[in-house]
Amino acid sequence: MKILHVVGARPNFMKVAPVLAELKKVPRVEQILVHTGQHYDPNMSDVFFQDLGMPAPDAHLGAGSGTHAQQTAKMMVEVEPVLMRHRPDVVVVAGDVNSTIAVALVATKLWIPVAHIESGLRTFDWRMPEEVNRVLTDRIAEMLFTPSRDADENLQREGIDMSRVHFVGNVMIDSLQAALPRARESRIHERLGVHKGGYALVTLHRPSNVDEPAALEKLLAVLAEISGRVPVVFPLHPRTRARVEADASLRERLERTRGLKLTDAIGYLDFLALTANARLVITDSGGIQEETTALGVPCLTVRKNTERPVTVEIGTNTLVGTDPAQIVPAAIEVLEGRGKKGRVPELWDGRAAERIARVLVRFCEERGR
Ligand code: UD1
Repeated sequence: MKILHVVGARPNFMKVAPVLAELKKVPRVEQILVHTGQHYDPNMSDVFFQDLGMPAPDAHLGAGSGTHAQQTAKMMVEVEPVLMRHRPDVVVVAGDVNSTIAVALVATKLWIPVAHIESGLRTFDWRMPEEVNRVLTDRIAEMLFTPSRDADENLQREGIDMSRVHFVGNVMIDSLQAALPRARESRIHERLGVHKGGYALVTLHRPSNVDEPAALEKLLAVLAEISGRVPVVFPLHPRTRARVEADASLRERLERTRGLKLTDAIGYLDFLALTANARLVITDSGGIQEETTALGVPCLTVRKNTERPVTVEIGTNTLVGTDPAQIVPAAIEVLEGRGKKGRVPELWDGRAAERIARVLVRFCEERGR
């Protein structure tokens, strides 16, 4: 049995690592790992391989940055000969980044079945590149692994053959649970000069929040307000850093905000340590909405919608939109100890990779492998 996994961007690594580890236990399975190179800075990629104990990729496509068309096209052209050479029984893609759809599309046209991890999530907002990637990948995938019941409902509504859909739970939580003991040894709090339980953690990288200087300026003003109450740790995603560096008034705004702890993007273990011990998390990330729910840490999501409604309905997440008049009072409420408590959703139990591996092996067996 030959199973080829694809990673490319930061949120892929923690979804694929547990599946690689689980399938390694099955002697008949040969695994191939392909890195598209969508993310390439050491702190966006290499550090995750180390922190998650992932093997080095067998192939690196070196796609790099570009417009959506440039990036997706480069990955497609580069991955085609790799797939033709290995002819795997299944290609496993994860999440909703450009690497996901690029490889899924090429594999499907080579008649190689695609398995999609984190299938069925929807915002119904076609202006998000991730929504396009998710919907199209699900349409062509042979196996769809969903993290929550709402994802199953979305797929059913879209007319997907439900015998292809497997509710396996959230595989990111497998990585989180496995890494927590090591994250507890992190020295990141000392390095940043913050006390556990005494800071807010912020991440912003969605194009809708950071690409327009006016939108980003509004959010930086929110951080200035909050940093008057608690230190604010703000690791800058390269997209966000580039926007700030390109605009003198944004740069100046950051420089004069006291109480703001700016850093470059942070590796998996250190970031997990920061999340687990934050008084409050403010983010526009998808994955962090889930990690905070799993850890029971209150999270304010600075977006108008979420593809992860279970984190709001059951977990610790609150959608606050992008209006400072909403965000600041919500943040104060949490800082005053009135944050959401939440529960952990069904099958976010650290065993999703086991369930995924079982389905993949059965699929290969049924095809006579
Ligand atoms: C991508 C995903 C997004 C995910 C995010 C997590 C898509 C469409 N978007 O967005 O869903 O939430 O990753 O990080 O796939 N850059 C670097 N170094 C890197 C990578 C990127 O400097 O290692 C800079 C480049 O200037 C690049 C920009 O960041 O143009 C954006 O990178 P890109 O991969 O296109 O999108 P993300 O915003 O990272």
